[in-house]
Amino acid sequence: MANGKWTAADLPSQTGRTILITGANSGIGYQAAKELALKGAHVLLGVRDAAKGAAALERLRREVPAASAEVAQLDMASLSSIRAFANQFLARGIALDVLINNAGVMALPKRELTVDGFERQFGTNHLGHFALTGLLMPALLQAPAPRVVTVSSLAHRNGKIEWSNLQGETHYVPWDSYNASKLENLLFALELQRRVKATGSPLLSIPVHPGIARTSILANGPGTRDIKSIAVTLLGPFITQDDAMGALPTLYAATAPQAKGGEYIGPDGFQGFRGYPTVEQPRPQALDEAAAQRLWSVSEELSGVTYLPAA
Ligand SMILES: NC(=O)c1ccc[n+]([C@@H]2O[C@H](COP(=O)([O-])OP(=O)(O)OC[C@H]3O[C@@H](n4cnc5c(N)ncnc54)[C@H](OP(=O)(O)O)[C@@H]3O)[C@@H](O)[C@H]2O)c1
Repeated sequence: MANGKWTAADLPSQTGRTILITGANSGIGYQAAKELALKGAHVLLGVRDAAKGAAALERLRREVPAASAEVAQLDMASLSSIRAFANQFLARGIALDVLINNAGVMALPKRELTVDGFERQFGTNHLGHFALTGLLMPALLQAPAPRVVTVSSLAHRNGKIEWSNLQGETHYVPWDSYNASKLENLLFALELQRRVKATGSPLLSIPVHPGIARTSILANGPGTRDIKSIAVTLLGPFITQDDAMGALPTLYAATAPQAKGGEYIGPDGFQGFRGYPTVEQPRPQALDEAAAQRLWSVSEELSGVTYLPAA
């Protein structure tokens, strides 16, 4: 670790480990896949679009010629796609060492629905990952030291769950919905850690955030005319970092021997905007255990996925 700063050079060998990353065709997910492949992991690139998946795999093979990798068809906005992938994976009978819940959409200007009829940010960012993690739990629990890394955001700081408007049914505000989904990521990850700890399972659930990373998420979500997008673009040189730096908290949580379950990892710079991985304090609403339990029950009901008693 140079100057006490954890970098991708500190990744331990990942040989023999199998790692699934959702939304791995671009941004933080792709960068994480690349570093993990460089260190010898077998990487599954979870993607919703087969052509983008093929392009990402080709890029990975170019950048890491020895990469052991495959594309996993996995639309996080479709429970049937998630179930189909999980069934195929479980049928292989192999352990899943790390699941990285990374795919996400941000501040979609109009209220969109998933194929199952859920508001798209709630459905993709939170509910899909809740379902995927629960369905893959048997494979995770087969691994000697499994980890679930869930990518939250600085946006959770403004997050508020409106239980009577959980999916923007009565009024939809794009950023409110995103902020809430990222708060849900943290509530979920911390509740998962409490549950596995209570059972004595070795699984570690670790939430992370990338700071502000230059990826396609703004362009694909709120677009360039959104006030926050304009602010981020104008202040970019001072508050943003590239996608490789944005992937460091994810990589630390997925691999660092010193990482602990339930720690929230983000960049160490001013306001957590950028920098190297450090342990950060979530906002109080993310530590609300009653809210986390309520979200868990609601998520089980909406997704139809019930967790094993071991988690
Ligand atoms: N960039 C930041 O500053 C920032 C800050 C805080 C948190 N985050 C979080 O970081 C994570 C990664 O985002 P990013 O910044 O790397 O942006 P990105 O480059 O746009 O990556 C998002 C990924 O999610 C995928 N995705 C979206 N909907 C999906 C679905 N239904 N099924 C499967 N994959 C889907 C996208 O695939 P397509 O290419 O098919 O759209 C893309 O690969 C997100 O959870 C985001 O909320 C980012």
